[in-house]
Amino acid sequence: MVKTEWMEKGFVDEPVDKTLDLKTEIRKLCREKDAIILAHYYTVGDIQEIADFVGDSLALARKAAETDARMMVMCGVHFMAETCKLLSPDKVVLCPDLTAGCSLADSCRAEDLKRFKDEHPGYQVVSYVNTTAAVKALTDCVVTSGNAKQVIDSFPEDAKIIFGPDYNLGNYINSVTGRKMLLWNGGCHVHEKFSVAEIVKLKQLHPEAVVMAHLECKASILAIADVKGSTATMLKYAQEHDCKEYIVATEAGILHEMERTCPEKTFYPVPPEVSEGGLGCSCNECEYMKKNSLEKIYNSLKYDWPTVEIDPAIAAEAVKPIERMLSLS
Ligand code: 13P
Ligand code: SF4
Repeated sequence: MVKTEWMEKGFVDEPVDKTLDLKTEIRKLCREKDAIILAHYYTVGDIQEIADFVGDSLALARKAAETDARMMVMCGVHFMAETCKLLSPDKVVLCPDLTAGCSLADSCRAEDLKRFKDEHPGYQVVSYVNTTAAVKALTDCVVTSGNAKQVIDSFPEDAKIIFGPDYNLGNYINSVTGRKMLLWNGGCHVHEKFSVAEIVKLKQLHPEAVVMAHLECKASILAIADVKGSTATMLKYAQEHDCKEYIVATEAGILHEMERTCPEKTFYPVPPEVSEGGLGCSCNECEYMKKNSLEKIYNSLKYDWPTVEIDPAIAAEAVKPIERMLSLS
């Protein structure tokens, strides 16, 4: 029985026995319930270590579409759990904390996009995967940071495109494709805080280091980055190249997998710009991703809740642009 107070909080708020070995108990529950755990690179190391699969948003979507498991626990943020449910509607999708949102997804409300579309007849809408199901239902094709250029290249040269909600990603894709997509003015509060000054400071200390930046970073950061792409792109680059040092401008959770798979290399996370007087976020972590915890995963598997549910009329439309993306990349 799901308690009203849990519903209000968005997660099972039940104290967990401190003597339990949570990692072992979670794996036991997964076996009993035929569940798999999917985790994004930005979750804490303990979660990545017990996950069946760790990946970027594109790889996680692919995994959700192909799994045979009866149930999946999506340890990431809410839109990622929605994507899993859209691609596997007959499976139980657990999201350990329903309040794990995304500032980028929040920057584009479906009603605002609908109005913008109505004002621009003849335009197709390409949306970043960091959007709600309601926004995807208004979208012609979804992209992730791992396939955005490839997907946009598949559109006719003269296609009129509205791209949202990440301005920085859209601006970068315009610059490398020569397109003139209309850009939504949204952004991620973590990636927008990275500054050139902090990267220069790190580069002065480590002149041989390769600078890597996520495509959600501002144009000024991307202009000085040697490697630009999704979390998986950066990880792959470090795994496949000889350079021993890397300066990493994205959420710091990715360092866990970088250090695990490249133990002989050193990774320096870029700290965000802190405004004078100490105001502003001094953290390069996504507080939404960090809402996932072993306790919440354990409770979620124990009570089969919180599940992700999507209005069937919205789901029927929202899955189409995701499937289109998966067929193109
Ligand atoms: P990836 O597509 O690289 O996984 O990024 C998702 C995200 O939310 C970045 O902030
Ligand atoms: Fe959303 Fe930014 Fe967190 Fe990624 S890092 S999930 S874009 S708020």
